[in-house]
Amino acid sequence: MSSPGQFSTPAVVYDAGADLGLGCGLPTQFAAITEGNVVLDLGSGAGNDVFVARSLVGDSGKVIGVDMTEAMIAQAQQNLAKLGYKNIEFRLGDIESLPVKDNEIDVVVSNCVLNLVPNKTKAFQEIYRVLKPGGHFCISDIVLRGELPEKLKSLAELYAGCVAGALQYDEYLHAIREAGFVDLEIHKDHQYIVPNATLAQYLNQEDIQIYRQSNAGVFSITASARKPSRTE
Ligand SMILES: C[S@@+](CC[C@H](N)C(=O)[O-])C[C@H]1O[C@@H](n2cnc3c(N)ncnc32)[C@H](O)[C@@H]1O
Repeated sequence: MSSPGQFSTPAVVYDAGADLGLGCGLPTQFAAITEGNVVLDLGSGAGNDVFVARSLVGDSGKVIGVDMTEAMIAQAQQNLAKLGYKNIEFRLGDIESLPVKDNEIDVVVSNCVLNLVPNKTKAFQEIYRVLKPGGHFCISDIVLRGELPEKLKSLAELYAGCVAGALQYDEYLHAIREAGFVDLEIHKDHQYIVPNATLAQYLNQEDIQIYRQSNAGVFSITASARKPSRTE
């Protein structure tokens, strides 16, 4: 039976207390998580995607959330205590040096976190290391295209958050391929649109026109890719 702020279907459990509104996509939607999978959520926050993944892996699977912030781990543990699952673990740790063994994970998910990690190349190498051969990731994240006008950067931070550490779209995909992943797919590619009236507070009409024509902007993407199997 669901309690207020919480609904459950046979497929997905959503816990409103675990959703701090900090995500930028729905990585679990395209992650092809199946019963019995071992899933790792990077930057798990209050546990939202961990709990969604748990409802997909069932009793026979396992979900691990890693976060570098003690307060987030504590909040996630509190939410876990309410839900009572036994096959979820929250670990304190850094994505650049994951507290996870080699070849342990079937599916890695992450929601709006890698843009915050200083070394994206290292992050994707770590994801590769912990995935089983043939395993895959599905990640929602913030990327940039083109150069934002200087005056717009703080506004973009306000709209999308986490813009300061975001990579250019092409660099992001390059880091994924460089780590050894194959079958890279982009499932969602959404631009954060700033209305003209808001832009006008920061730019004059000529600069707004130049900015619009440049197609530069802040995007949320959801991408997946696979670690090759041992025989590939
Ligand atoms: C924008 S929040 C997203 C939280 C969660 N994924 C969600 O969608 O609600 C970013 C989270 O990533 C964590 N984080 C940032 N950098 C990290 C790193 N290098 N290693 C582990 N966790 C990190 C933060 O502590 C924070 O909980």
